[in-house]
Amino acid sequence: MKISPSILAADLTDLKNTLQTLESRVDFLHMDIMDGHFVPTLSFGEVYVKLLKDHTNIPLDVHLMVDQPEKEVPKYYDFSPFNITFHYEATNFPVRLAREIRKKNIKAGISLNPKTPVEFIEPFLEELDLVLIMSVEPGFYGQAFIPFSIEKIKKLKDMILQKDLDVLIEVDGGINQENISLVKEAGADIVVAGSFIFKGNIEENIQKLKQF
Ligand code: DX5
Ligand code: ZN
Repeated sequence: MKISPSILAADLTDLKNTLQTLESRVDFLHMDIMDGHFVPTLSFGEVYVKLLKDHTNIPLDVHLMVDQPEKEVPKYYDFSPFNITFHYEATNFPVRLAREIRKKNIKAGISLNPKTPVEFIEPFLEELDLVLIMSVEPGFYGQAFIPFSIEKIKKLKDMILQKDLDVLIEVDGGINQENISLVKEAGADIVVAGSFIFKGNIEENIQKLKQF
């Protein structure tokens, strides 16, 4: 299973060292873009992502927690991220947006809040490369994992297998040493971890997650 640390939870005053530590140890860098509308918090945007991109070779995993993502998505094309993920709840045009992202040779991801059933994306699953299951309500790092997320991951995995599609499952929120094996068994391909990785010794914490 691949690991994507949420940079939002990192010590921003020590970012250069943090990036060096992460460079050979993780698969992606998870960027939480929050607009203060779709979620109550305002985090960072394309200027900060550019800064990070200039200092690392780790593929970027862009998670847009913004209203009207169709306006924001194009700002991230130039950074050639691995994926751009927008929220199902934030747009009326998910298929058009996913197609636009794919046209740029970037993987198109959609994210589902805890309240949103995975069945809602079944009709257009083949238009997507990645589904991000939120295992906390979006907006903050450091929240506790919501247990019913496991059922959603399992259902989604079954759907993908049944349709014989190549769609990655990513899980975001409250991941730690205790729940990562459940998430993996349920079918996740990528896990995001913020506070678990950045509280204490980063190298040791990554190792702890990797043993599963
Ligand atoms: C929540 C963000 C998450 C969060 C993860 O709104 O999308 O990526 O930063 O942090 P932890 O692992 O601490 O829940
Ligand atoms: Zn996130």
